[in-house]
Amino acid sequence: MNRVAVLTSGGDAPGMNAAVRAVVRAGIARGWTMMGVRHGYDGLLAGDFIDLGARDVGGIIQRGGTMLGSSRCPAMKTDAGQRQAVDALARRGIDALVAIGGDGSQQGALALSKQGVRVAGVASTIDNDLAGTDITIGATTAVDVALEAIDRLRTTAASHERAFLLEVMGRGCGYLALAAGVAGGAEAIVVPEVPADPETVAAELRACRERGKHHAIVVVAEGAAYNAEKLHAWFREHSQRLGFDLRVTQLGHVQRGGAPGAFDRLLATRLGAAAVEHLARGEHGVLLGWVRGAAAATPLAQIVGQKRTLDPELLALANVLAR
Ligand code: ADP
Ligand code: F6P
Repeated sequence: MNRVAVLTSGGDAPGMNAAVRAVVRAGIARGWTMMGVRHGYDGLLAGDFIDLGARDVGGIIQRGGTMLGSSRCPAMKTDAGQRQAVDALARRGIDALVAIGGDGSQQGALALSKQGVRVAGVASTIDNDLAGTDITIGATTAVDVALEAIDRLRTTAASHERAFLLEVMGRGCGYLALAAGVAGGAEAIVVPEVPADPETVAAELRACRERGKHHAIVVVAEGAAYNAEKLHAWFREHSQRLGFDLRVTQLGHVQRGGAPGAFDRLLATRLGAAAVEHLARGEHGVLLGWVRGAAAATPLAQIVGQKRTLDPELLALANVLAR
């Protein structure tokens, strides 16, 4: 192994920079020449590489986003695009690639691996929807952002005796909503994995009122069949069923921005370094994730496209504690 490239792909996540830094410095420590790919798979197809020395990744561990840039690259899903990516790597004499990103990005990594490229994936997305890892880089920081929003909304909800709907990201996965909702003491949590119609949510809010609560927070995952917009539309029509005056907040991309917390910096550092170690040992076609307290490699073929299930115990506890 001599020349190794690293890219970040899909939605950016706090901690991606820390992962890039770890990959680059761990690779340099092995005597490798390290390169970065700008703008994810878009840049890979275009052959947009930069040299990365130890100093080039200085001062980024604390920064959110990704210094390499990221993209959604539809062409990477095609045979022609994947061949273009393989050619771009070959033209630069690159022996291996580290792909930092979520499930879609790891599907791209698997496609390259099938074409003979040595690839190591690093699990990074705020959604925490990837199999092969207990937690993804960026998810914990995103939960903290959502939690701060809940805490802030609660003070105004209490002052006005209102209910608030807070919509959080997560695509088809309810992890962010569940984790932030439990940590924030939400009165109800709506996730894609557990279908809930507006009538049920309204009944929960009425029950809160009857139990003596004067305000309420409902955390809704954007991927729920009834997201905040749909719930709000229904509640507007049936306002008398709620027992509360209602306001809606959509957190949106605020959750993806900002500096990574300590956990994400450490996780990213461990997984980035582990990706280099695995490549050095000749192990590729794997995703580096965090499993039961340690970095672990799982074949990409086993994890891509898998649906992560939510922790059923936490779901059950959320209902008990909202009483
Ligand atoms: P994430 O990696 O955060 O899940 P996306 O799902 O948007 O984000 O995927 C990021 C990129 O990964 C896509 O824009 C595309 O370039 C690549 N990708 C996604 N799915 C595939 C696939 N089935 N085959 C090859 N590449 C893919
Ligand atoms: O995958 C990360 C994520 O932030 C999802 O939670 C969200 O659905 C999506 O990306 C938003 O994508 P975009 O930034 O392209 O709007």
